[in-house]
Amino acid sequence: MTKDRFLRMLVPSIPVLARTPLALVLDAADYFIKHRHPEWSKLPPASLRMRIGVGNRILRNHQQFIESGNGIVTELSSKGYLDPASHILELGCGCGRNAVAFSKYLNERGTYAGQDVDREMISWCQQKLQNERATFHHANIFSKVYNPAGNPVAEYKFPASDGSITLIVSISVFSHLLYSDSLRYVRESSRVLSKGGHLHMTLFILDFLKERLGDRWTFSHKLENCYVDSFRYPEAAVAYELSTLEEMMRLNGLSMVEIYNKDLHQQTVIAKKG
Ligand SMILES: C[S@@+](CC[C@H](N)C(=O)[O-])C[C@H]1O[C@@H](n2cnc3c(N)ncnc32)[C@H](O)[C@@H]1O
Repeated sequence: MTKDRFLRMLVPSIPVLARTPLALVLDAADYFIKHRHPEWSKLPPASLRMRIGVGNRILRNHQQFIESGNGIVTELSSKGYLDPASHILELGCGCGRNAVAFSKYLNERGTYAGQDVDREMISWCQQKLQNERATFHHANIFSKVYNPAGNPVAEYKFPASDGSITLIVSISVFSHLLYSDSLRYVRESSRVLSKGGHLHMTLFILDFLKERLGDRWTFSHKLENCYVDSFRYPEAAVAYELSTLEEMMRLNGLSMVEIYNKDLHQQTVIAKKG
């Protein structure tokens, strides 16, 4: 058994671990680290950073936290999906590592809205990052791992009006959504995107992972139209077949325009409305 697989079996879900007393210990240690590195003082506490899986480090991840946000802006702008006047909706925005980078990049015509199922992370973003052009919204949807007291997804609406968004970004979010959640999210994406707008997602696509399964992930359990690593923590890691994704897009008026990062753990999909 590989070290990765062993760790995954020991800790099937970091967000669940983040709700144990270990979080308090990490926050105390983080306080002292930030005291020695004032340049990191504005970052969220360790107990929030660890929930979004920054380079799989649970404490010393400050620099990676900052760099990954800047990286996504560079990636999407160089590919032509993002410009300074974009209207961005970020799904599963976590504790704002990308929101900070997007807000710096946008001009006075651009807007950013982030949503997440984790109430604590959204509260932190609302207190520390919110302004008239960047807003944060709690999605109170049921997720056994991320929001066990949430409501069924069926009636959930994204915090945006019809056709108002030019780019939806979702980094490692569909990799935590079971089929009915994904279907609702794609449907809502289609509603809020303007014609020609793009949906970006990074997620596990089984077709590109087959050779690598059994190491860190197995995705050996089928649940509805997706595959999970663990029935106990189903949303900890969810994978899809490419054909399922394509059908979900097609049924909702979106078409896939690009798939890249096929050799990474998670692949990147870009779909277009209309
Ligand atoms: C791996 S983290 C990535 C966070 C963020 N996208 C980033 O790049 O920093 C996955 C995020 O998805 C969020 N999440 C999980 N299920 C969700 C759902 N049903 N709706 C919205 N967000 C969800 C988690 O709370 C977490 O913030």
